[in-house]
Amino acid sequence: MVKRNMPTKQFHEFLIIYVYSLISVLFFHPSAPPTFSEITRNEGYEMRNNLKKIGIHTPKLLSMSDTNLIEEYIEGGDLYWALASGGDIMLAYEAGCITGKLHEAGYTFLDNKAQNYLVRGDSVIRTDLGFMKKTHSHYSKSMDIGSFLASVMDLDMYGEIVKSFHDGYLSESGSKFSYLSIVIRNVLSVGFSSSSKTTLRNMLLDSRTLIGV
Ligand SMILES: Nc1ncnc2c1ncn2[C@@H]1O[C@H](COP(=O)(O)OP(=O)(O)OP(=O)(O)O)[C@@H](O)[C@H]1O
Ligand SMILES: [Mg+2]
Repeated sequence: MVKRNMPTKQFHEFLIIYVYSLISVLFFHPSAPPTFSEITRNEGYEMRNNLKKIGIHTPKLLSMSDTNLIEEYIEGGDLYWALASGGDIMLAYEAGCITGKLHEAGYTFLDNKAQNYLVRGDSVIRTDLGFMKKTHSHYSKSMDIGSFLASVMDLDMYGEIVKSFHDGYLSESGSKFSYLSIVIRNVLSVGFSSSSKTTLRNMLLDSRTLIGV
């Protein structure tokens, strides 16, 4: 799988990073977005090894330059596509476990869309590591939850997917979702969704059972 590097990153990723910086100011947790060299380091061999040690699998990195990144091709496609086409709901549980493990290890993904998880059989592999940040901040963790939820909000199975992701997350981190993650979800979902009717319906679903106080 050949990917172009930073200069051609697409709209969704910039949306994530702008929202991240903007909300951080609004909530008095000013947080700088990652720089180009941090993005390159995050995609590299060392970070992939760190992740492997904490039980998070990534595609094998084959080569990396300033403009191109070549990694192993994962044939099952991304998690959004898998869930949209009737894939096993436990895949969302796996994504929740991965997010929980990452937070426990003191990192966050920031760009935690379902499209950044790949599927191989019944296991889930994480790609697109560019925006990772080493932090225990409550705000950055909420960004991970919020961006995942927003990315699946236009799916009919949203309720089941979120419950499954939540249970996986809880099993690894011992924490429920923060209220802030729901606020971030609502902001991001405006830019993410391909079906505003489904998104709006899902926004009105009751999230109270998922939130820890
Ligand atoms: N190793 C891989 N094997 C198979 N498919 C992949 C792989 N990496 C990425 N993809 C597919 O390509 C899509 C985009 O990949 P990735 O997120 O890494 O690139 P990006 O430049 O960050 O794009 P985007 O802005 O859409 O996030 C993924 O959602 C997935 O569908
Ligand atoms: Mg991506």
